[in-house]
Amino acid sequence: MTILRSVLALGVVLGCVGAVKREDFKTCAQSGFCARNRAYAELAKETPNWISPFQMNPSSLRLKDGILTGDLIDTQEEKQPSPRPGLAFELHLLDNDAVRVRITEREGVLPRYDGVQDTVLVKPYGMAKDSSYKQLSKDTDGVLSIQYGAQRQNTVKISSAPFKIEFLVNDVTTVVLNGEGLLRFERLRKKQVEEANEEGKLNDQEARKKEGEIKIEKSALELKLEENLWEERFKDSTDSKPRGPESFGLDITFSGINHVYGIPEHATSLSLKATKGPDAPYSEPYRLYNLDVFEYEVDNPMALYGSVPFMLGHSKNSTAAVFWMNAAETWVDVEKTAEDKNSGILSWIKSKKAVPAPSTKTHWMSEAGILDVFVFLGPTQRDIFRQYSSLVGTTALPQAFSIAYHQCRWNYNTQQDVAEVDAGFDEHDIPYDVLWLDIEHTNGKRYFTWDEAKFPNPTDMQQSLANKGRKMVTIIDPHIKKDDQYHVSKEGNDLDLYIKNKDGQSAFDGWCWPGSSQWIDFYNPKARDWWASQFSYDRYKGSTKTLFTWNDMNEPSVFSGPEITIPKDVIHHGNVEHRNVHNLYGTMFHSATAQGLIQRNETNQRPFVLSRAFFAGTQRYGAIWTGDNLANWEHLEIASPMLLTIGLSGIPFSGADVGGFFGNPDAELLVRWYQAGAFYPFFRAHAHLDSKRREPWLFGEPYTSQIREAVRTRYTYLPFWYTLFHETSVDGTPIIRPMFTEFPEDETVFAMDDQYMVGDALLVKPVTKPGITRSSVYFAGNEKWFDIKDYSVEQGPGIKEVASPSDKIAVYQRAGTIVPKRERPRRSSKAMEHDPFTLVIALDNRGEASGRIYLDDGESFHYEQGDYILHEFRVSQGVLSSHDLRTESKVKVSEYVQRIGALRIERLVFLGSKIALTKVNVGDRSLQVDCTHAPNGGGHVCTVKEPQVAIGESFSLSFE
Ligand code: GLC
Repeated sequence: MTILRSVLALGVVLGCVGAVKREDFKTCAQSGFCARNRAYAELAKETPNWISPFQMNPSSLRLKDGILTGDLIDTQEEKQPSPRPGLAFELHLLDNDAVRVRITEREGVLPRYDGVQDTVLVKPYGMAKDSSYKQLSKDTDGVLSIQYGAQRQNTVKISSAPFKIEFLVNDVTTVVLNGEGLLRFERLRKKQVEEANEEGKLNDQEARKKEGEIKIEKSALELKLEENLWEERFKDSTDSKPRGPESFGLDITFSGINHVYGIPEHATSLSLKATKGPDAPYSEPYRLYNLDVFEYEVDNPMALYGSVPFMLGHSKNSTAAVFWMNAAETWVDVEKTAEDKNSGILSWIKSKKAVPAPSTKTHWMSEAGILDVFVFLGPTQRDIFRQYSSLVGTTALPQAFSIAYHQCRWNYNTQQDVAEVDAGFDEHDIPYDVLWLDIEHTNGKRYFTWDEAKFPNPTDMQQSLANKGRKMVTIIDPHIKKDDQYHVSKEGNDLDLYIKNKDGQSAFDGWCWPGSSQWIDFYNPKARDWWASQFSYDRYKGSTKTLFTWNDMNEPSVFSGPEITIPKDVIHHGNVEHRNVHNLYGTMFHSATAQGLIQRNETNQRPFVLSRAFFAGTQRYGAIWTGDNLANWEHLEIASPMLLTIGLSGIPFSGADVGGFFGNPDAELLVRWYQAGAFYPFFRAHAHLDSKRREPWLFGEPYTSQIREAVRTRYTYLPFWYTLFHETSVDGTPIIRPMFTEFPEDETVFAMDDQYMVGDALLVKPVTKPGITRSSVYFAGNEKWFDIKDYSVEQGPGIKEVASPSDKIAVYQRAGTIVPKRERPRRSSKAMEHDPFTLVIALDNRGEASGRIYLDDGESFHYEQGDYILHEFRVSQGVLSSHDLRTESKVKVSEYVQRIGALRIERLVFLGSKIALTKVNVGDRSLQVDCTHAPNGGGHVCTVKEPQVAIGESFSLSFE
């Protein structure tokens, strides 16, 4: 495998960036449980009048303290000679209006893993208050209904026979569980008993067959349901599956909803394409199984590095989401019914008759654990983001530097190299905040060490960056080189902290960057604490306060393992089989590292850790990026939908390698990628070991200037980005947002993913094709949009061709918003900390606008105690006002934050004013206004210099 990697790497050197090796990864047909659950769906489809064999025992249902419990009977199982007990059903009504449905085995022969909730849910949630829900009497068909929600606008209906759960909003069916009857639950069983039974049954059947009593005929599909129950082979590996089959599946229909989104990570469009049904673009389900996929392909539902089993459905009339809380391998089929090529309304008007409401049927299949799903009914997307993030946590507010620009490559080779690259940025007047060191900086891929010949003085190196307000990041992976001379390896062994082979005794070893390696078992709390302690300054020699961390290869990537990862039957702490928790491994590692960075300081500093693998909850620990993309236009293009999808699934702090990891971008691609990357929440350039050097100045002019302009643009908007990070840290609202999040009623944008919004204010359309100088941009809403560079105006709604010459992409500020900026170019974000602000005020048709600013010390946790500034700006009736939004208004902010709050606003820019402003009055002072015409008409651009108000001050200023 290492040899294979080197050969492939050589391919990259020679410029022949290849294609993904699909054969290294399973298809659904090669994954036993996926094949069985899909076969079941086929069987349902082929069987006339199929109904689910599951029935709720109506007399077993009890609703108490917001929890409904009941017995779910499998009528097929009941026909068996010795039927296993039914399933236990629970429905929880939560105080945030979400509903949780749990189904698991009653009295199984072995316990099923139910530990995902312990690591994924932030805290025990509250149950809905008795007064906020009401059980309606059962109707004659045995349907039990409960009304819930603040206005009792939601209803959940549980039908007994067949078993089905419907969720209605204002009496309109929105989400249905088991409406297609695909609920399937494989019981844990004992292999020997099963074999004996099977043999007994066969003998019996043979005898009866001979007697002519029964005909044994199972269809091909029925036979498929019994395949690969136990040991399973893939290529040259065998999954021993000691517990046998334990998968389950369920269909979830988004009724009247034609677009579904989410379930990252896949290199696919934002609106998920169908995997089933006539004309389905994909034939494989979306796979959620964290994997290191070399040279991944775009437009493919194959699994990638991270997984979030969260799906949002949206239509003009409704929005709903589900969170399938399971960390085992999972596949999801998507099928659209009554494809609505135009908009529903348009086709209805054209045909003059009712069109069937388009719906999306999804089929979820997980290999192990329990069925545990949350349903969110909004009613708005914002409500859903709030409801979901109140369960799995919001994004940790990052250190301010980490949302600026990062310079990375595999590798900066020596201390001298680092110094030269650092100087290059100053020489070319390009700001940057962080320089990254990849695996070659270590002593033989032993993390927490340095190659002393190349980096003799890491502390000085970090200090000289820190002198300019810059930081450094080093890579620390979860595989530990087997070497008794290496303190980390030895301690890991001495303390017994590694993942175990399936025997549960010996440590698992496999192959990764350092050669033969072992993997820390991050499910062991002792291992997490020990790992965190490795980051203390006295243990991690050569580390300083300005050194942060990059966690890579944490799917985990195992070069010698099945599908380049760890076998499913290895054992974690508490005798947990890896199969149950695979998709969470990377997050556990990420969290332990973040904890290490927090606890190395006494001063309460926020951590910064970038991770490649992710799961629901990752946002609490740091940023992620989309892994090893390719330096081509397709990968630049797919980055936007990927980041939008990851963001709406609760992980907004994400980015893609600017420039593309594998291969060599030409100057045009590199510039276009910088222009796009300047609007990714995480903005880092990175490149493969064998790619040519591509620091921003190496292509010469005009490219250096174009890259400089892109990076500087990012820096001017840092106050706005930081404010958005604060917003998401409070309520989970994505930072970069699909158009449909900001324009939920405009069907034109439901599948749009080549342009997006940053917050509610900026519209961004990256250029993702070569040779382009104009872009077609959709301007939504009955609103004006202002080009951020020259303030020219476009009026929505509609598509317009706008200029995107090589030095800019289309970025527009939406009318009705106020965006805080800092416009003085500096070396780093730290160097801007005392700079004054500009407010760009884009007035809407009524002459109104609003916006916010959030500021704090940028690095500590003191904001949690109220040490921050949060102001809202508002323009209404010719008055611009600023007022304090802090909820902890009685808490005194620190001196430092007071100083930040006292920084002045140096400029106000009014866009979209119908008349040229003549005067601005602050108290009894009148200030001069300079107005020009917007370049393409559409109002005036009026600037007020030095209004003599501070950013953190409440003020009111009138203009005429
Ligand atoms: C993985 C990472 C990549 C990194 C390389 C070496 O391929 O995805 O970013 O440069 O490992 O550490």
